[in-house]
Amino acid sequence: MIVARDLAALRQARARLPRTLALVPTMGALHAGHLALVAAARVAAGHVAASIFVNPLQFTAAADLARYPRTEEEDLAALEAAGCDLAWVPDAEAMYAPDRAATVDVAGPAEGFEGAARPGHFRGVATVCTKLFLQCRADVAVFGEKDWQQLQVIRRVVRDLDIPIAILPVPTVREEDGLALSSRNRFLTREERALAPMLAREGFAAAEALAAGGPAETTLAPARARLAEAGFGVEYLALVEAGTMRPLGRRGDAPARLVAAARLGSVRLLDNWAIPGQ
Ligand code: PAF
Repeated sequence: MIVARDLAALRQARARLPRTLALVPTMGALHAGHLALVAAARVAAGHVAASIFVNPLQFTAAADLARYPRTEEEDLAALEAAGCDLAWVPDAEAMYAPDRAATVDVAGPAEGFEGAARPGHFRGVATVCTKLFLQCRADVAVFGEKDWQQLQVIRRVVRDLDIPIAILPVPTVREEDGLALSSRNRFLTREERALAPMLAREGFAAAEALAAGGPAETTLAPARARLAEAGFGVEYLALVEAGTMRPLGRRGDAPARLVAAARLGSVRLLDNWAIPGQ
């Protein structure tokens, strides 16, 4: 596996990879969810690259950026073992010019939910992903469905800016008890970790109930109340149009998604569920 740390090295490495390239953008602290993305990338293209970059532009709280886990040595070993051909590991100076003036702003699917809770977050995500796509000249980029809204934002950036890249979504990888894998789960205390799968249980059950087409609030209000009663700080549990993230009062014919964010101690858990039968 080639490890590139600046643009010149990346370009040289890319020239040595003549087949189609699938990119797995990451912020490191890799877990089995990331490795599922690498596995999907291997099927989708002739070569696989993964980026590791903790993107300061997408963090709204300095403390969250400072405590984001950094495990580069283990990450590189895991990527190599998973069959990656190229790791793109820039530092902030290699990624952003000190006087950078251009960013990628997204309206529509970036506006509510995470966009409202973390102002500027999706500008940071859209900007860095656009740069990663162009830097790597990737044919395919692989994203987990775990960050559902991020996936919709990236799809919109690629469509609206005519970026010649295919976006490949990969289903969320879960622990046996249902908790969606996330690099931040390591910050859960033992008690919080034991409680955390309740979010997935409520989400799956609500998605099942919403499939019948009744008013969403009849299902979601009691689910929110149960979560709050158990100790979750529920920020949202909402039914949305899957592509636009527009809130829905009930499921219709177009694909819908149930999305959630809930705080447990110092961790914000994000999850989402398909509506069965769609
Ligand atoms: O999902 C992530 O890890 C990040 O938001 C991404 C896509 C790597 C951009 O920094």
